Amino acid sequence: MSITQPRAHHLTKAFIRLDHLTHNLRLLQARVGEVPLWPVLKANAYGHGAELIAAHLVRLGYTTVCVADVDEAIALAEAGIHVTCIVLSASLPQQSEALVAYRCEPVVCTLEMVEALARAADIAGHGVAVHVNVDTGMGRIGIQPQEVQSFLDRCLDFPALWVRGLMSHFPRADEEDKSYSLAQLARFRAVATTTHPYGIAVRHIANSAAILDLPGSAFDAVRPGIAIYGLPPSSHIANPRVHDLKPVLEWKTRITFLKEVPPGTGLSYGHAFHTTHPSLIATIPIGYGDGLHRQLSNQLDVLVQGVRCPQVGRITMDMSMVDVTAVRGKVALGDEVVIIGEQGTEEVTADELAGKLGTINYEVVTGISHRVPRVITDADSNESRRERHRSG
Ligand SMILES: Cc1ncc(COP(=O)(O)O)c(C=O)c1O
Repeated sequence: MSITQPRAHHLTKAFIRLDHLTHNLRLLQARVGEVPLWPVLKANAYGHGAELIAAHLVRLGYTTVCVADVDEAIALAEAGIHVTCIVLSASLPQQSEALVAYRCEPVVCTLEMVEALARAADIAGHGVAVHVNVDTGMGRIGIQPQEVQSFLDRCLDFPALWVRGLMSHFPRADEEDKSYSLAQLARFRAVATTTHPYGIAVRHIANSAAILDLPGSAFDAVRPGIAIYGLPPSSHIANPRVHDLKPVLEWKTRITFLKEVPPGTGLSYGHAFHTTHPSLIATIPIGYGDGLHRQLSNQLDVLVQGVRCPQVGRITMDMSMVDVTAVRGKVALGDEVVIIGEQGTEEVTADELAGKLGTINYEVVTGISHRVPRVITDADSNESRRERHRSG
C-alpha cells in the first residue's frame, strides 16, 4: 500500500486522523513524563496502516517502535522509514540473519535464538541488541524469573550480542481488579534488581492499560498500542483520561445503489431479512472481504445523513445493504456511509461493533482488510474537505 497514493477510486476507505494520533501520544507521554514511548505498530498498526503511522511518528521525533516480527520491520525499512524495531514475538534461528541485517532488536527467550543471533551478528560484522523476555505471568513466551540470571550469564558468552532490555507483558492490566498486575509488577521489579550487574539499559513492561492505570509500571520505556489509536484498552480503565483519547480511525463507504422495495422482500443470501413495510434499501460496497464481519449481519447500525440506519440482510463478501427508509427524500447515490466514526451528532465506535461481535476493539480495527486504503486525514486536510464536499 502506498502512503501518498491511496487507490483514489476505491469507495470504502479507512480515514486516519494523524492529529488525533498526536493528541493520544501527548496524553500518554504526559502520564509517564520523560520515559520514552515505544509505540506498538504490529499487525499493520492495529489495522491503521503501519507505514503512515510510522512516518508520522518519525516526524514527531520517535525513533523506536515495536513490531510483531521481522517481516513487519523489513516492510517499514523498505518504505524508507528509519526506526529501531523491537520485535515482540518469539523468532526462530532461521530469522536471525534478517533480524541482524535490518538491525532489529528482537525479544529473546531461548538460548538457540541467542546463539543464532550472535552467529549472524559475527558474520554481519556488527553487534545485535536483544531484549530478554521474562514471563512474570502472561504465560505466552518468556523465560521464568528464576532462570533469568543463568540465561544472562550464558548471553555473556557471545560478545556480538548485547542484552539491552529486560521485558515482560501484562495479561490483566485492563481489569478493574489490579491485584494480579500489582503482584506481577513486584515480580518484574524483583527480577530487574538482580540484573543490574549485566548492564541492562532498558526495563519495560507497560502496555496502554498499565500506562493509564498502573502507577509505577513505566520503568525505562513503555509500549503503548491500542491507546495511541485512541481506543480504550477495556471498559474497566479507572483513569478518567481514557475518555480524552481520540479515535484515529474512521471507516467510511458510499451508497452505490438505491431501490424502493415492497413489504415482504427478501434481501441478500439466504433471505435472512424480509422487509415488513415499503422500504428504501441502499447497497454499500463493503463486506467481509473488507473486514466487516459477516456475524454482524442484521445487527449493525451505520450512519447515513447523520441518522442511524440498520444494516439488513447478510453481509456479503463485497456488498451489504442498509435500510435507509428513515432518510428517504434526503439520501442519494454517492452519499457517505459511516461504519466507524461520527456523522452529525451520531457516532459508531469500534467498541460498539466489538460488543456486537463478542470481541474487543483491537480485533475490529485490526481486522480491516488490506483491500481498504488507509487515507491520511485531519480536520482540515484537503482529503477531508473533498470528502465533506462530496457528501454534500
Ligand atoms: C508484548 C506487547 N507489548 C505491548 C503491547 C501493546 O498492548 P496494548 O495495545 O494493550 O497497549 C502488546 C500488544 O498486544 C504486546 O503484545
